[in-house]
Amino acid sequence: MLTIDEECGEVRVRGGDGIVRRHDLATPEAFEAVSAAWLRCGWDVKYVYSFTWLGRPVIQLPEDLIRMQELVWRVQPDVIVETGIAHGGSLVFYASLFAAMGRGRVIGVDIDIRPANRAAIMAHPMASRIALIEGDSTAPATLGAVSAQIAPGERVLVVLDSDHSRDHVRAELEAFAPLIAPGGYIVACDGIMADLAGAARSGPDWAWDNPVSAIDCFLADHPEFEAGEPGFAFNEGQVRARITYWPRCFLRRCEVAA
Ligand SMILES: C[S@@+](CC[C@H](N)C(=O)[O-])C[C@H]1O[C@@H](n2cnc3c(N)ncnc32)[C@H](O)[C@@H]1O
Repeated sequence: MLTIDEECGEVRVRGGDGIVRRHDLATPEAFEAVSAAWLRCGWDVKYVYSFTWLGRPVIQLPEDLIRMQELVWRVQPDVIVETGIAHGGSLVFYASLFAAMGRGRVIGVDIDIRPANRAAIMAHPMASRIALIEGDSTAPATLGAVSAQIAPGERVLVVLDSDHSRDHVRAELEAFAPLIAPGGYIVACDGIMADLAGAARSGPDWAWDNPVSAIDCFLADHPEFEAGEPGFAFNEGQVRARITYWPRCFLRRCEVAA
């Protein structure tokens, strides 16, 4: 339980152990506790369903988009493969980063690309950097269609934002992992589900049926990947943790020992 006491200038957090911890409002601990409550409250009221990127609805927390921009700049991929297109805002976001970087293209996969969304994406100024593939992201035919558009040696970054159930994300990780070269990343979105069990708009099974469970299973079977939090590219402040709907989202393929 969280209490924000602005008069006293402190945040009080009662943990699962029943112990109440007090944090001065001007501390990273207070900021992270308030942010966790803000994230949950924002989920309940669908805050992320209120943004666009260059005119297309993008269903993401802006903080997560900024962190993805940092990763894209760091990794300099040739191709971003994203499962889960919806209105296409995230595809346009990545394509616009590539346009600014003078390189790169985006392949979007969705089981159901609505005609109006397809038309809007294809009419967008970023369309020349975007390819759309319709199909279940775990179907062999879909993976074949994606792979056919990637040349040998191209650096690939994969973003998983389709069906967030454990089994589906696990299957996506198995399917797309071979596309990732050493040093490359897969990003599995919406791990916050694990912390939202019991919240409005949550499922009763979210405590275990979530992307983080899929990541844990995958990492246990794939020592060639590691949990790869990139860290902040710049930080002159005191906060060390991402404020995110995507906890533990980054999987990095280990560098091969020389
Ligand atoms: C959360 S939305 C994607 C949001 C988008 N990435 C954005 O940032 O705006 C999830 C999308 O995943 C798609 N989807 C659901 N199950 C899928 C599956 N099995 N394979 C591929 N896409 C799927 C849905 O049709 C939906 O458009």
